[in-house]
Amino acid sequence: MKIGNVEVNGKVVLAPMAGISNSAFRRIAKEMGAALVYAEMVSDKALVYKNQKTIDMLYMKEEERPIAQQIFGSDKESFVEAAKLIYEVMHPDIIDINMGCPVPKVAQRAQAGAALLKDVNKIKEIVKAVVESVPCPVTVKIRSGWDSEHINAVEVAKVCEEAGASAITIHPRTRSQGYSGKADWNIIKKVKESVSIPVIGNGDIVDIYSAKRMLDETGCDLIMIGRGLLGNPWLIKEINSYLFDSSIISKPSSDEKIDMIFKHLDYLLDFESDKRASLEIRMHIGWYLRGIPNANSIKREIFTKTSVNEIKEVLVNLKKSLHE
Ligand SMILES: Cc1cc2nc3c(=O)[nH]c(=O)nc-3n(C[C@H](O)[C@H](O)[C@H](O)COP(=O)(O)O)c2cc1C
Repeated sequence: MKIGNVEVNGKVVLAPMAGISNSAFRRIAKEMGAALVYAEMVSDKALVYKNQKTIDMLYMKEEERPIAQQIFGSDKESFVEAAKLIYEVMHPDIIDINMGCPVPKVAQRAQAGAALLKDVNKIKEIVKAVVESVPCPVTVKIRSGWDSEHINAVEVAKVCEEAGASAITIHPRTRSQGYSGKADWNIIKKVKESVSIPVIGNGDIVDIYSAKRMLDETGCDLIMIGRGLLGNPWLIKEINSYLFDSSIISKPSSDEKIDMIFKHLDYLLDFESDKRASLEIRMHIGWYLRGIPNANSIKREIFTKTSVNEIKEVLVNLKKSLHE
């Protein structure tokens, strides 16, 4: 299938997750068979002001393609300027507009993310202007609405399509739900029935069965996964085997999980300092080590380490101990 002119092979898409979906995690998702990866959101204003930390967030490797870079913002002018800058710096295959972020700093203070869902005219203007400003396809990621009184995903999706968006991702929770409650997949189905551009369904996919169920129940073109991949990028491979070969592959062994931490660290070191990488890997280690004997004491030990080599040493010892 295609999003605009971008060929997408497969069904599973890595979700944009702030602090997580950077080049390292995206490469891992890609190696596991992700059809498309979304980079974590970057602020339009920060890019416009040429904030170096934000520009550094645009780091990517060619092997991550096709890749979508997401922007969050609140006004048309800075969205356009940021989109042009992103295109210049990284030539992403797709630029995505965030209309779903619920956190107060974004959705309330900055009137960005999910706040945009409250103003359909503004949505139209922003999407149209960004589409006209970059040569790549533009997609939009939305929630079901601002709150339960204002569920407008279908209307928003139609407006985005009219304005030239090449695909819509829908995470069917309202802004006020945050991440609580259950994603209402029925809204994905309604959005799919209302537009002719590809629809990416998102929310609460945790295993091969929920992945297949979302595709079957909603008719969406692609499925996007976020939290279900934390510490478990193998899920992408499992889903692909299940969907395309009807086979159930075995879960990763403890050794494979530890080796993945080594790989994750090495990929982080491609663009981060040793100190930052050793801090960032901590949360991933917590997720990767779930289910491994003595995981809690290992995590505690790792939390006292401040360099990649020290962390690797703990993991080498853990691996040895698992075979004693
Ligand atoms: C830690 C974290 C960070 C996130 N950051 C973003 C983001 O930058 N942009 C975005 O559109 N959604 C973001 N999301 C939402 C996810 O992309 C996704 O819509 C949501 O987690 C539901 O999917 P899931 O049930 O598969 O996790 C984030 C979610 C989490 C848990």
